[in-house]
Amino acid sequence: MASQRPVRGTRSRMTMSIRTILPTAVLVLTAPLVALACADGGGAPAAPADDPELVAGRAVYAGNCLPCHGPTGGGGVGPQLNDGRLLANVPDPAEQARIVTEGRKQMPAFGQKLTPDQVAAVVRYTREVVARQ
Ligand code: HEC
Repeated sequence: MASQRPVRGTRSRMTMSIRTILPTAVLVLTAPLVALACADGGGAPAAPADDPELVAGRAVYAGNCLPCHGPTGGGGVGPQLNDGRLLANVPDPAEQARIVTEGRKQMPAFGQKLTPDQVAAVVRYTREVVARQ
């Protein structure tokens, strides 16, 4: 009896360690993929590689706008940006830059967080890429 206890104990410790190691291993293996996906725009539609301002706008979108407006602009907390309504609601890009810089109702102001160049880039990206998928 006494000699069986340590064996049972060892087996349950091994089971425990596999249960602990497996999720950790999965996390360690998938974390770089998740990081890569985020660096890659988090599922936001691709910008033309030969237009650096649109490429920059995509990164700004992925890092700031995507949580509320959705990866492809499908909406969520914020309104849909990929159905043509954006261009109809806000025909003037300068007005959109104002909305992003100063905020509007539930939409936070980004004037402290983004440079004017980043605002200009994300305005172009939403109008020329997200709105025209
Ligand atoms: C915290 C959530 C949130 C974030 C983050 C956010 N927005 Fe918004 N956005 C909103 C909401 C809510 C509205 C609707 C505001 C209103 O009712 O006037 C909105 C409205 C807009 C509009 C006007 C749409 C229209 O059809 O009138 C634009 C353009 C826009 N957001 C762009 C952006 C951009 C670009 C970013 C990133 C720099 C961003 N938003 C980040 C929540 C957000």
